[in-house]
Amino acid sequence: MTQRIAVVTGGMGGLGESISTKMADAGYKVVVTYSPSNTKYRSWLDEMKAKGYGFAAYPVDVADFDDCAAKVAQMGKDVGPIDILVNNAGITRDMTFKKMSKEDWDAVMHTNLDSCFNMTKQVMDGMSARGWGRVINVSSVNGQKGAFGQTNYSAAKAGIHGFTKALALEVARRNVTVNTISPGYIGTKMVTAIPREILDTKILTQIQVNRLGKPDEVAGLIIYLCSEEAAFVTGANISINGGQHMY
Ligand SMILES: NC(=O)c1ccc[n+]([C@@H]2O[C@H](COP(=O)([O-])OP(=O)(O)OC[C@H]3O[C@@H](n4cnc5c(N)ncnc54)[C@H](OP(=O)(O)O)[C@@H]3O)[C@@H](O)[C@H]2O)c1
Repeated sequence: MTQRIAVVTGGMGGLGESISTKMADAGYKVVVTYSPSNTKYRSWLDEMKAKGYGFAAYPVDVADFDDCAAKVAQMGKDVGPIDILVNNAGITRDMTFKKMSKEDWDAVMHTNLDSCFNMTKQVMDGMSARGWGRVINVSSVNGQKGAFGQTNYSAAKAGIHGFTKALALEVARRNVTVNTISPGYIGTKMVTAIPREILDTKILTQIQVNRLGKPDEVAGLIIYLCSEEAAFVTGANISINGGQHMY
């Protein structure tokens, strides 16, 4: 079988690095995207190369439809047709609704939700025409249950699952699956940036397994969803949250 090609957006981030390396270990040809403002992408690629990972990498602003169109077209020419898309890039701009500006709202909606349209639009026709594809959208437990100070993030992440379910219906007959995963608190910089006291008193106390999740645990779920054995899983929202929230 020819090697499948996977694109991981935000592939150099806390979860992204784990997803990218584990997918490469699982035999996929992995293309990572990074944000155009990322000044450390070269050193990350060098570090990965030293570990044996030869990733193709492209700067893509996932919030910008035209940039996604241009860069995904280039990936197609350079690397080949994309079989798997992991919509992982995301940001937070946490604050109470009272303090939230239109800009804080828009930035989070564009980067977390519009990005799923912007990227998936570029690859779906090809997946459907070839009769095989996997789209995995990274949402959050806070899209399932809401979170104080995250009206923007919770709305964007909840919106992702509506997108997943509707698209899954449209492409199921083409052997393309579309799923959401909803991680709880995973030990990446997005979470370790939360003040320690809040982590200890407000977050860890809610997690039944009494620890943060590991990026590799999330990567393992994604690898399962990419597999042939997962062909019957579509339109699902799979929680991976240590028992914090059962939906
Ligand atoms: N960590 C958690 O506990 C947790 C829990 C639930 C859900 N999630 C979700 O998991 C995903 C990854 O989170 P993380 O913890 O790995 O966070 P992270 O380390 O901050 O990574 C986020 C990635 O998104 C990329 N990104 C941000 N804005 C972008 C843009 N406009 N265009 C392209 N790329 C952009 C960043 O790229 P650069 O590095 O190149 O700037 C970064 O690699 C996010 O969608 C997040 O919401 C995380």
